[in-house]
Amino acid sequence: MDPMEILASLSTPAGRADPYPLYAALHEVGEAIEIGPRDLIVIGYDAINAVLRDPGFAVTDAASLDKNWPGWRSNPVFVQATDWILNLNAPRHSRIRSLIARAFTSRRIAGLEPAIAKIADDLLDAMAERGADGAAVEFMHDFAYLLPVTVICELIGIPEADREGFRPLARDLAGVFEIRDPATLPAINQAAVELLAYFTALAARRRDDPRDDLLSDLLAIADSGDGRLTDFELVHNLTLLLVAGFETTTNLLGNGLHVVLHDPAAGDAVRDGSVSPAAFVDEVLRFDSPVQLTSRIGYDTTVAGVRVSQDTEVATVLGAGNRDPRRFADPGRFDPARTDGGPLSFGGGAHFCIGAALARLEGAIAFPRLLSRFPRITSAGEPVRRDTFLLRGFDSLPVTVV
Ligand code: HEM
Repeated sequence: MDPMEILASLSTPAGRADPYPLYAALHEVGEAIEIGPRDLIVIGYDAINAVLRDPGFAVTDAASLDKNWPGWRSNPVFVQATDWILNLNAPRHSRIRSLIARAFTSRRIAGLEPAIAKIADDLLDAMAERGADGAAVEFMHDFAYLLPVTVICELIGIPEADREGFRPLARDLAGVFEIRDPATLPAINQAAVELLAYFTALAARRRDDPRDDLLSDLLAIADSGDGRLTDFELVHNLTLLLVAGFETTTNLLGNGLHVVLHDPAAGDAVRDGSVSPAAFVDEVLRFDSPVQLTSRIGYDTTVAGVRVSQDTEVATVLGAGNRDPRRFADPGRFDPARTDGGPLSFGGGAHFCIGAALARLEGAIAFPRLLSRFPRITSAGEPVRRDTFLLRGFDSLPVTVV
């Protein structure tokens, strides 16, 4: 099959629903494939790693938007998003990321463990009640979506009373990662404006009355007198934590349960402890990555022998790298015991996911609890995939739990 035909298939609904056979066909072509002038797709594990770790490759930032889309500033969401560390290059990226990392400590993440377990157990109680008579329960809505968003609220320090109004805004804003229909932009902008107003007001409250939460820690860093983190940089990056951290983790939970529904032995191995929760989570991340793709802007160099020049658009397909047969034996087999692990799902290099430890912790707490609580969990109908490519997950995953 011609690589251009494979790529065309990837953008069809069927290709988005199951890109893996198409990735397998692309792997036969090479590690990196030029798909047009200044347009490169990278699918090999090593080549993706090399691009993400090479500081010569940049992310799209305000300067690149100025070049390609002069009107972008009329969208509040992009004004915010161009302060997100995800969309910053050195040296601004290094400055802001290192300040956020000072508050996002492993101690703070590990300290969330009891809260995550409690949130998970409360959600499982509600699922058990709803499904007690054998009725179908909607796993995505009732668990996979609520757990991560509640955990991030807990981490940042968003009061419980505010959380309910807050969730739909977070969901709308997350739409910015994959705008397939420009008609969704007004709702995304509106969510950006409302969340910014909310975080600005909450930051003012926490300044007067600090607590033991990430927001209070970030404010202490911002107020340390050296002016290294402005108020806008702070609140803008709070909205990033919110959107980067929940839909991705939602998809980790949904994609993991989907594996178990098709392969009950994988669930039994988690229940009886023969597979560690951490190994199960990492194999879910590799097998069906919640984030399939990220991208960079090139410079004059080569990637896996293919020439790249200044301004080449480089798509690094993490989900394909995770199925690279050069790296993983029998890549289409779900095998938490594999010793050739190491998924690319959290990226690599300077932008490596700052929430990776938190996402892994949420998965490692949630899966054993879910599977032990519901040993007979079974599919109760056709799952519905989200019609997105970059973020891979389900809209609906109905199950029975008794
Ligand atoms: C399974 C869950 C998750 C997945 C698959 C995931 C994936 C990723 C990936 C691939 C990147 C790098 C993007 C790039 O290089 O262009 C990234 C960056 C990031 N992630 Fe995650 N993420 C997850 C959970 C989280 C959580 C829970 C948080 C925070 C609460 C978070 C916050 C961030 C932030 C702030 C960045 C930007 C880092 C930077 O640019 O320096 N993520 N994530």
